[in-house]
Amino acid sequence: MTGTGNQIDPGTQERIRRIRDFLRTCDSLTVLTGAGVSAESGIPTFRDAQTGLWAKYDPMELATPEAFAHDPVLVSRWYDERRGKCAACKPNQGHLALARLQQEFEASGRRFMLITQNVDRLHKQAGSRNPVELHGTFWLWRCTSCGEEREEREVPFPDHPPRCACGGIRRPGVVWFGESLPEAALATAWQSAGSCELFMSLGTSGLVEPAASLARVAANSGAKTVEINLEPTPLSTWVDISIAGATGELLPLILSEP
Ligand code: OAD
Repeated sequence: MTGTGNQIDPGTQERIRRIRDFLRTCDSLTVLTGAGVSAESGIPTFRDAQTGLWAKYDPMELATPEAFAHDPVLVSRWYDERRGKCAACKPNQGHLALARLQQEFEASGRRFMLITQNVDRLHKQAGSRNPVELHGTFWLWRCTSCGEEREEREVPFPDHPPRCACGGIRRPGVVWFGESLPEAALATAWQSAGSCELFMSLGTSGLVEPAASLARVAANSGAKTVEINLEPTPLSTWVDISIAGATGELLPLILSEP
């Protein structure tokens, strides 16, 4: 075992060995990622304390249609600042390991699906192909008048909120609290979780539905289930294998078998 494997306790080493066996023998793998996978790239997780100017705001109150309707400048600035932070971040070893895993699965004719709750697009940047973006992305902004959606890479916006050519204001292409998820993305995620042989939940608190139910859908369909997360979640007591740790460290280790 290469990497820091020999500094990992025997129990975790045994879990890593079992996950490698699962990965070797399964014909289809579905992965769900959360903000924890981007944490080692320097992007605060969703429930981390807000800092600086935003310390006085609760993200749950900013990420809503009502907040945008009430103060589109404030909400647009918040997302613009998050985009700016993200633009300076790079995919970490966990993102890169997942991109490699997808290549290995697809090269051997096996099914691989990456579903993410993250809106930063670091999976795409790391080389993951066609990740399902359950909660959208703040790199896409949609006109609230004509509906035109386009990728906005300029950071920061010259003015807030950004305007559409039609004169309408643009909103970030993310799912806000109280909004429904993109139908196609949700249907793909549900179908993939319900038909895979192995399901891995990585870096998510498993608190926000419907993403949080995907692991249960997989288990009820007979899939083996694995979780890697820094702290315990509602999944930790029932999945087949749960490892407490950092995805940026454990994923490369799991994939770096001799
Ligand atoms: P959370 O912030 O709820 O959870 C992130 C999880 O990652 C926590 O349980 C951390 O312990 C764990 N974690 C942190 N660093 C880690 C690391 N290096 N390796 C492994 N785990 C680590 O974020 P999500 O579960 O993604 O939805 O939250 C799901 C959704 O809640 C978000 O997509 C957002 C929010 O409502 C929308 O914006 C619609």
